[in-house]
Amino acid sequence: MYKGILHTHYLVVTLFLFIYVIKTILLLSNKGDLLANFTKKVRVAEMIISTLFLLTGIYLATKLPFGGKYDYLFWIKIVMVFASIPLAVIGFKKGNKTLAALSLLLITGSFGIAEVYSKRKGVAADNAAIASTDGKTLYEVKCAMCHGNDGKLGMAGAKDLSATALNNGEIASVILNGKGSMNKVEVNEEQASAIAAYVAASLKGH
Ligand code: HEC
Repeated sequence: MYKGILHTHYLVVTLFLFIYVIKTILLLSNKGDLLANFTKKVRVAEMIISTLFLLTGIYLATKLPFGGKYDYLFWIKIVMVFASIPLAVIGFKKGNKTLAALSLLLITGSFGIAEVYSKRKGVAADNAAIASTDGKTLYEVKCAMCHGNDGKLGMAGAKDLSATALNNGEIASVILNGKGSMNKVEVNEEQASAIAAYVAASLKGH
């Protein structure tokens, strides 16, 4: 559900920007007739796209883990998006090139801010996990890319952890020292025991 909405959001934002760029180019190059024609042709599509843009955006915003250091980037993005709308409406209605261009600048800028925001958030999540002693969190960051969230992924020849015969201590030793083709994982002993406890309790035998 979340992934689907996220992809829809990317798609409608891209379409929205595409229409916007064409309109701005037509306005800036004094193609008034073409602009009027184009605006008429895409009116219905634009209405659907803007509605989906808004609805998917609201849905995604409700899923954001607020309370982080980078929340302000999200708010800057929102302000930029909402400031661009009246500028575009007035700009295109009055044929004011400066306003239309400014509006496009704001909306593309918000796109860039959104990128920076999600990168920073991702890095912050990784950093939080590095200091974490929660077995599940650490497992998802350090092990799941090879073993999968359920232990069964088997990427790069990784053993199926749901079928392992190793006990807690042996799993911790594999984490700290590596085993066969698996390199040791960069965690401290406390973290290794937490991960091992999680693997033994929640993945092994499931
Ligand atoms: C880069 C991929 C990769 C990562 C990351 C990785 N593993 Fe592995 N793991 C493997 C491979 C490959 C094997 C099989 C090693 C062999 O037996 O030659 C393996 C084997 C194991 C085994 C031995 C299972 C058995 O029954 O013999 C355990 C336990 C294990 N991994 C736990 C972990 C845990 C916990 C983490 C995270 C802290 C982790 N692994 C991270 C690739 C990975």
